Amino acid sequence: MYTFEQLTEQFGQHFSKQHFPKMPQTLYEPCHYFLQLGGKRIRPVFCLMGNELFGDIQEDAFRVATAIELFHNFTLVHDDIMDEADMRRGMATVHAKYGNNTALLAGDVMVIKAYQYLENIRIEFINKILHVFNKTAIQVCEGQQLDMDYAFAAHIVLKDYLQMIELKTSVLLAASLEMGAIIGGASEGSCKHLYAFGKNLGIAFQIQDDYLDAFGTPEKFGKVVGGDIKQNKKTALLLHALEVASPAQKSALQQYMQGNAPDKVEKVLAIFRECRVHKWANDLKEQYLTTALHHLEEVAVQSVRKKHLKDVAAFLIQREY
Ligand code: IPE
Ligand code: IPE
Ligand code: MG
Ligand code: MG
Ligand code: MG
Repeated sequence: MYTFEQLTEQFGQHFSKQHFPKMPQTLYEPCHYFLQLGGKRIRPVFCLMGNELFGDIQEDAFRVATAIELFHNFTLVHDDIMDEADMRRGMATVHAKYGNNTALLAGDVMVIKAYQYLENIRIEFINKILHVFNKTAIQVCEGQQLDMDYAFAAHIVLKDYLQMIELKTSVLLAASLEMGAIIGGASEGSCKHLYAFGKNLGIAFQIQDDYLDAFGTPEKFGKVVGGDIKQNKKTALLLHALEVASPAQKSALQQYMQGNAPDKVEKVLAIFRECRVHKWANDLKEQYLTTALHHLEEVAVQSVRKKHLKDVAAFLIQREY
């Protein structure tokens, strides 16, 4: 069986082909620009790993993996418009480089291209795969809307946040594994547990993303650090800080988050540190990882086949990029 790194390499070779024609260049060059910036390729590789749990990797798993990565890139291009983010994968975002109109359409054409890859999977799997893919895509939209709504909403609590990140992030990781497993002929029970593994891991993954957005190193993380604070995102870090802060810290935090002071990020980060959000976020990630691993245990294949998934799970929640 292949490691995550080996499959990343294999998928990378597969995915590096031209997905789009040359003309109109004003549409396709931005797509090409963004797709070749790389990224971790976690979701497509999860699809391949989910597939390989049940036997040799099939061509259809590569088709679905390609569709998933195109879909993911579409969400990122649009997300960067919504979040007013100028940097991703260490480079200018599509809208920053080419303007919002181009970025909208580039995202659109990526997601439509994703469906073209799905057209070619074996007829016996098409309905099942489309069902999971479409259900997931709708959930991602719902999560993205909640993410934006929460920025302006008062009284958001941890439970709301967890529901939001489950939708915007973790269901796609879960579905990627599940779709690979479906193509591999997995039983319904195994699909469910693999999905639950991905869902719990995905929550931990987004908590880490929120942590890196506050405390990461821009050169490694590849995004502008403090973006969530600037955008008033209700991240786990903020919610926890608000919960444990002293009255003075709490009112300072609320005041900074309402305004747009030049030192907003710096000041909010200082309060985060005082509230020891790092330790708390780490514990929360660990809890989700533990639950994820319990579900992985229940997947009906030999334990040795699960080793690479376990390794990648541990890596993902400690990653620095
Ligand atoms: C970014 O996902 C969006 C989130 C859900 C946090 P990744 O961190 O997987 O982004 P890339 O594809 O590796 O750039
Ligand atoms: C994005 O969450 C999730 C999706 C794109 C669906 P974030 O807004 O936190 O992702 P980053 O940090 O920009 O990658
Ligand atoms: Mg966002
Ligand atoms: Mg974003
Ligand atoms: Mg983020």
